[in-house]
Amino acid sequence: MSRNRGPGVAPRTRLALAGLAVVAVLLAVSASSPSGVSATTDDPPPCKLANWFTVPRGYDDWSHTLVDWQLRVEWNYKPPDLVPVSEAGIPGGGFLRKVTIRDTRAMGEASRAAGAGIGIWSPYRSFKYQVQIFNDYVALDGYRDAITYSMRPGHSEHQLGLGVDFMSAGGGSPLPGDWGQTPAGRWMRENSWKYGWVNSYPLGDNGELFNPRTCFHYEPWHYRYLGRAMARKVHDSGLTIREYLWKHYVMVDPVTGQALATPTPTPSPTPAATPTPTPPASTTGASSAAISATSAASPAPSFGDGPLGLDPLVVVAVAAAVVVLASLALAAARRGGSGE
Ligand code: DAL
Ligand code: ZN
Repeated sequence: MSRNRGPGVAPRTRLALAGLAVVAVLLAVSASSPSGVSATTDDPPPCKLANWFTVPRGYDDWSHTLVDWQLRVEWNYKPPDLVPVSEAGIPGGGFLRKVTIRDTRAMGEASRAAGAGIGIWSPYRSFKYQVQIFNDYVALDGYRDAITYSMRPGHSEHQLGLGVDFMSAGGGSPLPGDWGQTPAGRWMRENSWKYGWVNSYPLGDNGELFNPRTCFHYEPWHYRYLGRAMARKVHDSGLTIREYLWKHYVMVDPVTGQALATPTPTPSPTPAATPTPTPPASTTGASSAAISATSAASPAPSFGDGPLGLDPLVVVAVAAAVVVLASLALAAARRGGSGE
């Protein structure tokens, strides 16, 4: 008895279509989880110098952009909202991001009320200024020592406009002696987090001056503004800023230094924005020009800009799978209709 195969699709064509469908589905799956890497990492990398562009680093990502021994921003990263420190109503010159001002003003008032008034010794520093400072320290102590207490240009929280060296109100540089043992230094250690500020470089767990958790020398005067919500989380975690942000927010592979292509599982408080920094007029020196060539070649990546926020590759692959599966269904229906 011979079977009537009707006008359906030939077996070889059916096989090819099925193969195509499988390939399309595999493509969709692999595109949605590239190389199986996770978006964040539990432990920060060991203390080994690197020059990876930190992600996220949009100007709206101020609460969770990390710079450290590995992570940096471009030479022309300059926050667009720098305002004079005087707006915070505490002693000191220079500039800070506007987002810090309200909390800094409240912190200044509270410190004065406690008899431990604070002032600002060194706030925002341009890349070019950090080049000058860093080179001075290298000339003084040599490169190996300088990197333990001065960040290489691009790696400094001062360039974010969110890192500040505090001092005692009416005092001078906080550097000589242990500022952490002064009334202002103690008050800051205990209370600053309530106002959104956290010490970036505490002593090591065993009192080491070079702390392996931060990859940096103890700096009791250097604080980073994270905003009250993030500062509370970091404070409550018992981790350093570096550890906490690597764990929850940094989107850079700690082995390769490449930006990770999957979205962070912890939603960012502010959506990532692609920075479009304006080159500051003050960063035209020879050294910054040399570094700018590297920086310009690595713009901040943006992810998920297809429909529904999906990777365009995923969208194309899913669409291809749907078309192929629909063709198969149609062919089967035709076969059914022709008495198979
Ligand atoms: N000394 C501070 C941490 C800096 O260089 O950024
Ligand atoms: Zn500092």
